[in-house]
Amino acid sequence: MTFKLNLMKKLIYPLLAAVVLTAISACGGGEIVPVDLSIVPNPVSVLGCGKSVNIQENPAVKTRINKKMGAEEYYLDTHKGRIEITAGSEAGVFWARQTLAQMVAQCGDVLPGVRIHDYPKFPYRGAHLDCCRHFFSVDEVKQFIDILALHKINVFHWHLTEDQGWRAEIKQYPKLTEVGSVRKETLVGHYGSNTYDGTPYGGFYTQDEMRDVVTYAAERFITVVPEIEMPGHASAALASYPELGCRGKDYPYEVQTTWGVFPEVFCAGNPETVTFLEGVLDEICDIFPSEYIHIGGDEAPREEWEKCPKCQALMKEKGFTREAELQSYLITTVEQYLAGKGRKIIGWDEILEGGVSQNATVMSWRGAKGGIEAAKLGNDVIMTPNSYFYFDYYQTKGREENGEPLAIGGCLPLRKCYEFDPYDQLDDDEKAHIKGIQANLWTEYIATFDHVQHMVLPRMAALAEVAWNPEGRTDYDAFVGRIEKGLLPIYCERGYHYADYAFKGIE
Ligand code: ACM
Ligand code: ZN
Repeated sequence: MTFKLNLMKKLIYPLLAAVVLTAISACGGGEIVPVDLSIVPNPVSVLGCGKSVNIQENPAVKTRINKKMGAEEYYLDTHKGRIEITAGSEAGVFWARQTLAQMVAQCGDVLPGVRIHDYPKFPYRGAHLDCCRHFFSVDEVKQFIDILALHKINVFHWHLTEDQGWRAEIKQYPKLTEVGSVRKETLVGHYGSNTYDGTPYGGFYTQDEMRDVVTYAAERFITVVPEIEMPGHASAALASYPELGCRGKDYPYEVQTTWGVFPEVFCAGNPETVTFLEGVLDEICDIFPSEYIHIGGDEAPREEWEKCPKCQALMKEKGFTREAELQSYLITTVEQYLAGKGRKIIGWDEILEGGVSQNATVMSWRGAKGGIEAAKLGNDVIMTPNSYFYFDYYQTKGREENGEPLAIGGCLPLRKCYEFDPYDQLDDDEKAHIKGIQANLWTEYIATFDHVQHMVLPRMAALAEVAWNPEGRTDYDAFVGRIEKGLLPIYCERGYHYADYAFKGIE
């Protein structure tokens, strides 16, 4: 056992990203059923112990399901001169194939004989893409999903509504896309430049397109969690249906042309707002089968509620003393509506303000503070702290001299992402509430898909590493070496535009 483990460590552990060698004993018992080999990361040929093996077609690749294992858990065994995968479900087989692709990438023609046992530590391993500040085509969204699959990330958080554009077709509310999907122009350069390009910008996904994306993701064992923002970041919705804002139907709401936080929010005191949100969510639930629906909840200023007769009347009726309770009321109403459909909400950590239902999952973005608070309250948490996992931040300290493209700000080198401890300050009971981690890519300053790739690669590998191995990450240099050997060849083969600062020692 010790000998085998040492051998494996020597041969493989330094080479693989996100592989945890927790056991090497043979899998025993359980129902064994063959599965078909339909989705493979890359068609590749390898030589194992002198035999030529094509993992796409060759029956020498054996896959088995053992239902006694965790659904995403797998063994990948090459020590008998052929490739064998045993997993708890087809998802586990799929993740094993990603590991195999990395082995093939780094081992060239000869795969060493090893047995790998691997399983994710978090059921939720997410990456978010803002398709509102800039729009990405269905094909690009699918490429983003391919990137997640390669890194064994299993949730795609699709940010579909914003001040600067509403991107999801909703049949009951056609103006959301007729009006709300287009802004008349876009800010040029950094916030405050006060220069605009004078060019209308827009785009949206039809319901068929969104269903197509859901299917594409599901084939890769990735769940799509849609986000519909409320009560803030609502300018595009209000430009379409101004009667839903506190300023009323005669106010000239506009799809925003610059970035930031805007005072225009949904009117919490207008019952039509709830009818609208429920109607939108009905259609969203028809398209997206995910258990979670993200309802936003962040950055919703309350000045308009302070002045609005309808909001103030509702506060009086309910006995609320603070506007924060209106936010809590709206989120809880929606949470209960979705619970009736068998769904659960995720909201940004502002949903803690004014009180939050125990059923809500809190996405901690303003650092890990909100997540720690929520876990201590007994709420489930997804950790997406801006200080570690905002992939729209710069990647080096010397950003300008290093030639980094314009970014929103911050500084988030690969090393910092790798060092995130999702369990910091939590006891064992509280740790159980951390359901996962996620990286977010806001796209104010990211207009092309090549640029998206540059921002997420290779930082996505650090996200994967923390998600599959949250404890015991101690060797950053070995991690960088594994990316260079196991992932860069795949990035190159696929033509991805990755950032190379970490490999060149550029800080
Ligand atoms: C956020 O970054 N406003 C969630
Ligand atoms: Zn109002």
